[in-house]
Amino acid sequence: MKKYAAPPIRAMALAALLMTFTAIPRVAAAQDSLSVSSPDGRNQMSVAVHEGRIYYMVNRDGRPLLFPSMLGFEFKGVPPLRDSLRITGTRRATHDETWTQPWGEVARVRDHHNELRVSVAESSAPRRRFDFVVRAFNDGIGFRYEFPAQPGLQDFVIMEELTQFSLADDAKSWWIPSNRGRLDRSEMLYSSSPVSVIDSIQTPLTMQTRDGRTFMVIHEANLVDYARMNLAGPRMDNRLLRVALAPWQNGDKVRGRTPFVTPWRTIQIADRAADLSPSVLGLNLNPPSVLSDVSWIKPMKYVGIWWGMHINTMTWSSGPKHGATTENTRRYIDFAAKNGLGGVLVEGWNTGWDGDWIKNANAFSFTQAYPDYNLPELAAYAHSKGVHLIVHNETSGGIVNYERQMEAAYALYHSLGLDAIKSGYVTDTTPEGNSHHSQFMVRHYRKVIETAAKYHIMMDVHEPIHDTGERRTYPNMMSREGARGQEYNAWGGEGGNPPEHETNLYFTRLLAGPMDFTPGIFDLLIERGTGRPRRLEESHPRTTLAKQLALYVVIYSPLQMAADLPENYENKPAFQFIRDVAVDWETSKTIDGRIGDYVIVARKAKNSNDWFLGAITDEEGRTFNVPLNFLTPGRKYTAEIYADGPGANWATNPLPVSISKRTVDSNTNLSVVLAPGGGQAVRLTPVK
Ligand code: NOJ
Ligand code: CA
Repeated sequence: MKKYAAPPIRAMALAALLMTFTAIPRVAAAQDSLSVSSPDGRNQMSVAVHEGRIYYMVNRDGRPLLFPSMLGFEFKGVPPLRDSLRITGTRRATHDETWTQPWGEVARVRDHHNELRVSVAESSAPRRRFDFVVRAFNDGIGFRYEFPAQPGLQDFVIMEELTQFSLADDAKSWWIPSNRGRLDRSEMLYSSSPVSVIDSIQTPLTMQTRDGRTFMVIHEANLVDYARMNLAGPRMDNRLLRVALAPWQNGDKVRGRTPFVTPWRTIQIADRAADLSPSVLGLNLNPPSVLSDVSWIKPMKYVGIWWGMHINTMTWSSGPKHGATTENTRRYIDFAAKNGLGGVLVEGWNTGWDGDWIKNANAFSFTQAYPDYNLPELAAYAHSKGVHLIVHNETSGGIVNYERQMEAAYALYHSLGLDAIKSGYVTDTTPEGNSHHSQFMVRHYRKVIETAAKYHIMMDVHEPIHDTGERRTYPNMMSREGARGQEYNAWGGEGGNPPEHETNLYFTRLLAGPMDFTPGIFDLLIERGTGRPRRLEESHPRTTLAKQLALYVVIYSPLQMAADLPENYENKPAFQFIRDVAVDWETSKTIDGRIGDYVIVARKAKNSNDWFLGAITDEEGRTFNVPLNFLTPGRKYTAEIYADGPGANWATNPLPVSISKRTVDSNTNLSVVLAPGGGQAVRLTPVK
């Protein structure tokens, strides 16, 4: 049996603390400044000092979501910044601005918030001080610490951030662990549990209060030069989650110098699961784009020399099955050009893959191709066909090796007109012993984004640091993996993704940002190079074919792969949907959904009047009547429907797809029938 440590805030102390907070409205004149509400008045954040310590609390409609939760830091070699604190001043601001994204789930984003800045100082030497800054939005709260330059705090090492999230309710939560399995990665399956039994988890952490009335998501925004945040917990009787920062090799968490700001800690809040997505809270807490010219940044669909390696019909390494040959790449480029797909990814083109590439980090060259791969020739060929050749850079965690070559490699790609990289960080801690989520790696990822921007290169990062909204400031930071993707379905056995997986992703990982999930596997009867006939119940992907199509709408990514081998798309009528589906959106709406069960999403394409609808379910078959009231009233649309065909079932019969057309309008209720493990994809085009 698991034992829980005693809570740091005991019941009595908690009661006293709550008194401090309830006193706020009564002493309005003096202390009114210690609370800030969202523009609609529903979300309220309060700040109070109690016995020298500073706490915050969050209410929704007057009900507590977070009980008083402590703030502060432990530093290396100096006393913690936590005790004998007092509030020395406050300032308020209000902000309402609508800004435009160069690409995204929605074109325009409103940033409407009220800000409260609380200046805090120690009452005794060394009299260190910071501002605690809160922004209250209608869709949640963000807060961060800002340290001005000061004599009492110059160079510092944070050993622990003491920020707490003291949940008022033993909410149901959906999470992946941060301390089990593949240590520094995010490629686990989601669990759900009461928040009180959480151990150590990654963010975004999605929760639903037990009364079902409120959804909350804890995450972070604008992670620039800090350690990534995980959450540790809990303390049974007060459901206390604490910030857990990933360490440098020697145990330091964050090295810095004032002036300094931390990332924002974010608490997204909504009444319905469907209202969580699209999520823009994190974007609003990142600085505007620093790139003045973004004309070279283009969302696209792509194919790749990739799935073949995962199902063992090709290799990354040299030899008879080498995938990245000039000839093979030309074939993929021709296929992309013929089908209007923008890009071709080629993995295994560069030297370093021979032997055990996971341990080979220092062997990788990012400029030298294998002899059977002619990079300049292929770059020119792709260009002549209007196709982007996407360069693959697998680092195997060899950060020093990669950074040594990065500038020259990116310059080379740029000189060849190559403008997109898919990178990879397989391995956990780096060879230097730093956690993959440490400040060391955060700095590395940022350096990559900046260098890529300088050479006009779009990034798609696998095994990334989690998304904290970097794409607002650097729109060339387009997509990333950072969750369990389709690749697990290639590996077979017990490792594949269960039918509910994507319905969990939608309400958790995908709230952070786009994911390169790589949908579109058509050969669902694949047997991974074993010669054995496929056993349906154990092989993968555990979806129907129609669900593979629906994932193009459900899982947002500006770089969206058609992941299967080109030959598996030939003469497949369902492939038409992949050709047609958009990758950039004017607007997105989650019509309905239940975490872990099903999702229905509609998105309107950018610069087009087309809408797309995607619906997916878990292992249970479901039927919905979807009102198409998002369509322009008075206008007729042709709906091209890709539905689970007769008898379709992920486990026994994944392939049947029924393709049909009908005329609909904004008054239509579309009957959407999903098979077990199934899905439906619909294109809606105005009738001319
Ligand atoms: C893991 C990535 O997720 C996958 O897409 C890639 O093919 C391999 N690493 C090799 O880099
Ligand atoms: Ca991966």
